[in-house]
Amino acid sequence: MRYIISYVSTVNPNISNSDMTALMDYVRLNNNAIGLMGILIYSEGNFFQILEGEEQTVKMMFEKIRKDYRHHNIIKMLDKEIISSSFSESRSSFTVISDHYNQSELHQFLKKEEEHNPEHYKSISYLAQKFMKFN
Ligand SMILES: Cc1cc2nc3c(=O)[nH]c(=O)nc-3n(C[C@H](O)[C@H](O)[C@H](O)COP(=O)(O)O)c2cc1C
Repeated sequence: MRYIISYVSTVNPNISNSDMTALMDYVRLNNNAIGLMGILIYSEGNFFQILEGEEQTVKMMFEKIRKDYRHHNIIKMLDKEIISSSFSESRSSFTVISDHYNQSELHQFLKKEEEHNPEHYKSISYLAQKFMKFN
């Protein structure tokens, strides 16, 4: 069963720019390697993340992320099965964005979500756009 988890969190203020770059690079590479889809946005002291994939993989990854010292105040927004059958394995890779001016990557991500995850597209699009606006 496919699954989606989405949350916002507060970045640990002791994290340096190079730590942040290393984290974002790691997440993109590792998620692509293990077939996790979604997005991680860092913007002005906050993270927004969507994880989509096999239920076990998504839940295990979230448990790991939840305990990570690099952030706190984790607020979950979506935590459910994805019913949509339109999923194709060949679809895109995991997106990371680390500044709020990068609107085009966000729009590309949202376009793919509309196509492949229509069931949750409205809430995903709403949450992502609000996050980008207020950060
Ligand atoms: C905000 C945030 C999001 C993260 N997202 C992911 C992720 O999507 N995939 C991932 O592999 N690690 C992610 N991590 C890093 C994990 O918490 C963990 O450090 C990493 O998976 C390595 O774990 P391991 O050493 O137990 O293999 C994230 C960390 C933070 C702070």
